[in-house]
Amino acid sequence: MRIVRAQPEDLEDIVRLNRQFVTIFRKKGRDPPRYANGAYDIKDVTRERIEGNLLKDRYFLAKEDGYTLGAMSLWLPAYRCKTTSEIATLAVRLGMQRKGIGTRLVDHAIKRSKTAGMRHLIVASYCIYDAKKFYLNAGFRFSGMSRNGRCRSYYFCMDL
Ligand SMILES: CC(C)(COP(=O)(O)OP(=O)(O)OC[C@H]1O[C@@H](n2cnc3c(N)ncnc32)[C@H](O)[C@@H]1OP(=O)(O)O)[C@@H](O)C(=O)NCCC(=O)NCCS
Repeated sequence: MRIVRAQPEDLEDIVRLNRQFVTIFRKKGRDPPRYANGAYDIKDVTRERIEGNLLKDRYFLAKEDGYTLGAMSLWLPAYRCKTTSEIATLAVRLGMQRKGIGTRLVDHAIKRSKTAGMRHLIVASYCIYDAKKFYLNAGFRFSGMSRNGRCRSYYFCMDL
């Protein structure tokens, strides 16, 4: 398996992977969080948002034999913090989870962030995704929680 920078032709693979963010809410009988205009308040679930970040070179993929097994978007730097990078989305294909692919993508984010001179790597995750153990295992420390309506989020940080 290799971690590679995503190319424009990988768009549909990423769209499919990131659909999981909505289906997790639905499977648990919850409506995903939404903005006042009705759009999902979830990063990169629309093709337009994914394409925008893909064209800004923010996506990395775990690939094996030409198949995309996982996708991560890395903001380098995150927003206006010049020394902080952020994993904005991370998804591994169903059926391929718990095989170390997510950890490989996080390791790649760490490596890229260090090379770019970042001091911190952060990630936010809706609690419903149940990814706390994963991020702690990958080397993050828990840095807090927030609530937006009925939706709670975990925040994680790593010093680089
Ligand atoms: C969360 C996610 C990215 C993790 O990727 P992964 O490739 O499955 O994770 P890894 O195999 O690298 O896991 C490493 C360790 O993290 C922990 N872990 C990972 N997933 C876990 C889970 N669902 N429950 C408990 N621990 C988990 C385990 O300690 C695991 O080691 P082990 O399998 O030897 O016990 C993946 O499950 C996924 O895509 N989920 C759906 C989308 C999602 O929720 N993304 C996070 C949004 S912020």
